[in-house]
Amino acid sequence: MRWAVHVAALCSLVHLFQPAGCAAIPRENECQKTKVAILGAGVAGITAAQVLSNASVTDFLIVERNDYIGGRVRHMPFGVNPETKAPYTVELGANWVQGLESKGGPENPIWTLAKRYGLNNTFSNESSLLTYDESGYNDYTKVLDAYEKAYAVVEQDAGYLLTDNLQDTSMRAGLSTAGWKPKKDMKMQAAEWWAWDLETAQIPEDSGLLYGITGYNLTFYQFSEENNYVWDQRGYNAFVIGESQTFLGANDTRLLLNTTVESLSYSAQGVMVKTRDGCIQADYAISTFSVGVLQNEAVTFDPPLPRWKREAIDQFQMGTYTKIFYQFNETFWDPNTQYFLYADPKVRGYYPVWQSLTGPGFLEGSNIIFVTVVENEAYRVEQQSDERTKNEGLEVLRAMFPDKVVPEPVAFYYPRWSTEEMSFGSYSNWPVGVTLEKHQNLRANVDRLYFAGEAMSAQYYGFLHGAWFEGSAVGQKIAQMMTNQTESTGDMARYEVLHGTTTMDAYSPANGWVASSFLTFGVGGEK
Ligand SMILES: Cc1cc2nc3c(=O)[nH]c(=O)nc-3n(C[C@H](O)[C@H](O)[C@H](O)COP(=O)(O)OP(=O)(O)OC[C@H]3O[C@@H](n4cnc5c(N)ncnc54)[C@H](O)[C@@H]3O)c2cc1C
Ligand SMILES: *[C@@H]1O[C@H](CO)[C@@H](O)[C@H](O)[C@H]1NC(C)=O
Ligand SMILES: *[C@@H]1O[C@H](CO)[C@@H](O)[C@H](O)[C@H]1NC(C)=O
Ligand SMILES: *[C@@H]1O[C@H](CO)[C@@H](O)[C@H](O)[C@H]1NC(C)=O
Ligand SMILES: *[C@@H]1O[C@H](CO)[C@@H](O)[C@H](O)[C@H]1NC(C)=O
Ligand SMILES: *[C@@H]1O[C@H](CO)[C@@H](O)[C@H](O)[C@H]1NC(C)=O
Ligand SMILES: *[C@@H]1O[C@H](CO)[C@@H](O)[C@H](O)[C@H]1NC(C)=O
Ligand SMILES: *[C@@H]1O[C@H](CO)[C@@H](O)[C@H](O)[C@H]1NC(C)=O
Ligand SMILES: *[C@@H]1O[C@H](CO)[C@@H](O)[C@H](O)[C@H]1NC(C)=O
Repeated sequence: MRWAVHVAALCSLVHLFQPAGCAAIPRENECQKTKVAILGAGVAGITAAQVLSNASVTDFLIVERNDYIGGRVRHMPFGVNPETKAPYTVELGANWVQGLESKGGPENPIWTLAKRYGLNNTFSNESSLLTYDESGYNDYTKVLDAYEKAYAVVEQDAGYLLTDNLQDTSMRAGLSTAGWKPKKDMKMQAAEWWAWDLETAQIPEDSGLLYGITGYNLTFYQFSEENNYVWDQRGYNAFVIGESQTFLGANDTRLLLNTTVESLSYSAQGVMVKTRDGCIQADYAISTFSVGVLQNEAVTFDPPLPRWKREAIDQFQMGTYTKIFYQFNETFWDPNTQYFLYADPKVRGYYPVWQSLTGPGFLEGSNIIFVTVVENEAYRVEQQSDERTKNEGLEVLRAMFPDKVVPEPVAFYYPRWSTEEMSFGSYSNWPVGVTLEKHQNLRANVDRLYFAGEAMSAQYYGFLHGAWFEGSAVGQKIAQMMTNQTESTGDMARYEVLHGTTTMDAYSPANGWVASSFLTFGVGGEK
């Protein structure tokens, strides 16, 4: 190992000759040169590039392993439109704009863009919900109301954790203290799954209370409590492509698609990006890789990332959220209802939430319905055959609709996010025991290598707008450094020694804390 490091150093320093054993290590002067290497063409990468462009920094390269722009905003053709005979477009990744705009107040930047590009979207009506168990329809919506009552207590308790600098705990513990104890009741488990797991892609046991609640407050009380479902047939990523076209020309050579980064060598002078087929020498680099990519060492770092950084990467979490799509030859469920919640008698989170796309405002008349599973159930179904998963889902539908004939689907598909190499999971979730400082270590640069992406957002992790805000912040930081508008070294705050708790003064922009989480719904203050 030591020897290898020495050889690597030798290979990259000695330009006069190429010693044996150096074949894999490109020489600096053979690399493509650029000022900023932006690694990833998802929302964070494209936003960072746009900010650089806006600041007249045009010498950058965007490096992306996929052959499209959008990253985790990804769609595919599915089934057939019975009228046009063309396939439908369904979203495998991000699907909603979450939190739209408050009256006269802040607006979710993704909502701004959804409007700018005229994305077809429809309000997801969470009250348009019917509840089921193993013997069919069974109205237990009262249980959902009981959860809401407990949650109202939990969010206040989380407020005290923040203001009084108390030790964080899990969402499970918070709910339990508020009197919500669902262990023996599968309908309570289903209600809880619907309200918590469907959003965070993780169980309450694995979710940190304080930052779970601040995240919820900052999106749904700051912007709005609405989630709008995007069903645009160009694909949700039409907005990301549209934004890229504000600064990239047709066939712009600054966009390198189908180019996989293998390793990054960073120093105070710059970053060398080694790709599968070449290398790039940059003054600065911005990694927008997911926490899953960083955790699985899909990209290697030279020198290895410092311990304070690796510990933050290893502790943050990547949830998996799997949508399983069915198209039938007819609609045997109520076409005017959006959601169907199923409480399995044995397994929590077993094919729990079915969402119809056939009703008004969606892919009308499509006979498409999809079911979402997360975490353990997602890992399980992602490891098994399509056939097996299809049949498990059909069995659940037959239990939910005992009076109907549930036929074989005419189309069936689901992605496998947990093993997908572009992300190794769906989106991040804040675990128990990560402080704001530790999260800042996830965010902070090492030398000239910067980090952006949804997980780096202290306030909007997991969401598209988190990716947008972080791409924007890092782009601005680098643009300022390059145009000398800043005196500092450019190093972001980091905490080589971590403390157990976070005092109020640490809730500052330096740690990515920009807005207050103490919000009432809408700016007018009424909730
Ligand atoms: C199933 C699912 C459902 C979701 N639902 C919603 C939702 O409804 N609303 C919402 O707001 N958010 C949702 N999200 C989250 C949202 O998609 C992400 O927060 C956002 O897209 C992340 O953007 P990003 O730029 O940070 O990362 P990414 O989109 O992952 O961009 C990083 C890019 O880096 C590329 N890359 C990775 N490794 C390499 C490599 N070695 N070399 C070169 N390139 C590489 C990737 O291909 C990717 O394009 C969902 C995500 C998933 C998966
Ligand atoms: C870049 O500038 C355009 C035009 O002013 C603006 O619409 C866009 O929001 C800017 N981009 C970012 C990420 O700030
Ligand atoms: C949501 O659905 C409920 C139940 O069907 C209905 O009463 C309500 O009017 C709907 N809300 C909107 C905004 O469509
Ligand atoms: C979240 O918002 C609620 C409702 O306004 C508030 O009571 C609570 O203190 C907030 N919690 C945090 C952690 O900001
Ligand atoms: C958007 O919705 C309109 C109205 O339903 C429809 O005519 C149009 O084809 C849709 N466009 C896309 C791109 O989905
Ligand atoms: C871009 O590439 C496509 C396909 O190679 C080509 O048809 C088109 O003319 C090119 N456009 C420009 C502006 O060069
Ligand atoms: C992507 O690159 C690989 C080699 O690196 C090549 O085999 C493949 O054809 C390329 N695909 C596209 C869509 O360009
Ligand atoms: C759908 O398929 C089932 C089973 O093949 C069949 O019984 C039913 O009549 C079909 N429905 C329509 C509308 O064709
Ligand atoms: C920024 O500062 C450096 C060193 O002080 C100087 O060489 C460079 O010309 C400056 N660049 C700009 C754009 O002012």
